[in-house]
Amino acid sequence: MKAQIIGLGNVGRNLVKLLQTKTKFLAEIGANIKIVSVSDSSGTAIDENGLDLSQVMKYKKLQWKGYSKYQRGRTAIDAINNVDSDLVIELTPSTLDGEPGLTNIMTAFRARRHVVTANKGPLACAYTELIRTAEEMRVSFLYEATVAAQVPIFCMINSCFLADEIVKVEGILNATTNFIIGEIENGKTFQEALDKAIADGWAETNYADDIDGVDAARKVVILANSLFRQRVKLSDVRVEGIRRVESMIRRATLAGEKIKLVCEIEKKQGKVKTAVKLGHVPMSDPLATVKHGDMGVKFLFKTSKQIFVSAQFLGPMQTAYAVLNDSIKIALNKRSC
Ligand SMILES: NC(=O)c1ccc[n+]([C@@H]2O[C@H](COP(=O)([O-])OP(=O)(O)OC[C@H]3O[C@@H](n4cnc5c(N)ncnc54)[C@H](OP(=O)(O)O)[C@@H]3O)[C@@H](O)[C@H]2O)c1
Repeated sequence: MKAQIIGLGNVGRNLVKLLQTKTKFLAEIGANIKIVSVSDSSGTAIDENGLDLSQVMKYKKLQWKGYSKYQRGRTAIDAINNVDSDLVIELTPSTLDGEPGLTNIMTAFRARRHVVTANKGPLACAYTELIRTAEEMRVSFLYEATVAAQVPIFCMINSCFLADEIVKVEGILNATTNFIIGEIENGKTFQEALDKAIADGWAETNYADDIDGVDAARKVVILANSLFRQRVKLSDVRVEGIRRVESMIRRATLAGEKIKLVCEIEKKQGKVKTAVKLGHVPMSDPLATVKHGDMGVKFLFKTSKQIFVSAQFLGPMQTAYAVLNDSIKIALNKRSC
């Protein structure tokens, strides 16, 4: 299968590393993935016979100086429209208006390409439009990595609970804020914990989306649309951040409780309520066990009752794994789990 990667940041570069180390394994399972183009914000490298990924990694570090396959100024849109491929892997930054990811993904659908993404922005802005276009064009659209990286959410719900009705989802879905909360529990001030989150690579330099709950809210929108089939927009979600968390944690620790930033989607009398809440979680709640940068989700069903899944989150390599997993599914021609 021929694939194009758009975005060679933390996730994109880790995906390239994975593809390099797993070439033999992928061939053994019948999921050969040949990368025919990679695009970043300044241009695109193309080889229709398959790029040499070690060269891609080497020249990206050198800002592409001396790489004959790199065309500065050639955009991702141009590459999608003019390079033959089966799959577009979209890994540009998550933004409030969904761009440039939204246009990249819609262009890929119209060119009849399957799409895999870790980018929350497009789904949070235009979920219905994206799903409808993918269906119209009869292409697959997989986005497991957008919510909680390796915690299997869409895959699990869409294959293991088809006979049941989901009533409520509560999750710790933002690793950065959970990391900061853990550091404050260990005695740091909010500012010291935030500085450590930036220094250790948990938070980006532009960390406001994380600590103000916006990143978590995007995930709430994706879950509400996808699992509850409700047209929820970002502006519908009641959002709290963690800027005032320090004194809350000090009091909760004395009382033997946990403070967590919890994403909540609940269906009551046919209506869906959504929120990102900063609040107390009793020690008996499995969400209280989600440590530091890890993530976890509790699902409540009508019949099968409560399911809790969590996963360690160690950074963008795990997001890249989730992206690779979705890409393998497409390579194996499985349209869903
Ligand atoms: N980091 C994680 O673990 C994680 C977890 C879950 C989801 N995600 C999502 O995954 C996506 C990628 O995350 P990341 O951490 O890899 O982001 P990142 O490090 O900021 O990288 C973004 C990449 O997109 C490229 N880019 C920006 N604008 C572009 C454009 N117009 N055309 C082509 N390429 C463009 C950038 O190019 P330059 O290299 O030229 O700057 C960069 O290579 C984001 O949407 C993020 O929210 C990330």
